[in-house]
Amino acid sequence: MTSFALHGPTLTLREPEPADAPALLALASDPEVTRWFSWGPYTEVEQPLGYIERCAARSARGEQLDLLIVHRERGPVGITGLSEVSERDRRCVVGTWLGRDFWGTGVNRESKAIVMRLAFELLGMHRLGSYSNPRNERSTRALLGVGLRHEGVLRDYHRHGGRWLDVNVFGLLRDEWLAGPLADVPVRVEGAPPAAFALA
Ligand SMILES: CC(C)(COP(=O)(O)OP(=O)(O)OC[C@H]1O[C@@H](n2cnc3c(N)ncnc32)[C@H](O)[C@@H]1OP(=O)(O)O)[C@@H](O)C(=O)NCCC(=O)NCCS
Repeated sequence: MTSFALHGPTLTLREPEPADAPALLALASDPEVTRWFSWGPYTEVEQPLGYIERCAARSARGEQLDLLIVHRERGPVGITGLSEVSERDRRCVVGTWLGRDFWGTGVNRESKAIVMRLAFELLGMHRLGSYSNPRNERSTRALLGVGLRHEGVLRDYHRHGGRWLDVNVFGLLRDEWLAGPLADVPVRVEGAPPAAFALA
């Protein structure tokens, strides 16, 4: 496997590998972390192992690119990923989760700066979207804080445990990213994104 990694001032983003499963188990065994998700909390290592296998397959197909966020001193801290990739419309969606110890530490901001560089510069995207549950105020505030604009509420957009849920939709356009402070965060690119995501 060719190595692909994005290095920011304190974080490295790279594709997760099977050896990362115990770390993901430890981070996402906390019900607070997975509270708003349709999966989790993890209870056994086979769950993150299966997830990591699915990541590799989705990455090879160019569908979704999930990256492990690794803190230089503290090791793996969470996952951030690009999904709903539309090559034709040059857009995708970002989603992130971090271990509880890393909330409010600046990891979210730096990881978003790195992902924005990936989306807009390396993958040639025009629009980066995101979603939040309107009741998940922390996530909503965090998205606004890294420069995404709240564009509206999509009614009954998501089905979770048999219930229909509204979602907030957010977006950031390439020019807005370039004009904002996150474009100034230095990012060193090692290798190249998986071939299925190569610029058309
Ligand atoms: C979402 C997540 C990645 C954000 O990272 P974070 O480090 O917690 O975010 P930040 O600290 O940068 O920003 C959180 C903001 O919410 C605010 N906040 C914190 N707790 C809050 C609460 N209970 N209600 C409202 N706002 C809250 C913070 O003050 C901060 O706002 P500010 O920048 O205006 O001060 C992280 O909380 C997480 O992993 N949560 C669990 C998974 C999840 O919900 N993912 C998002 C799915 S859409």
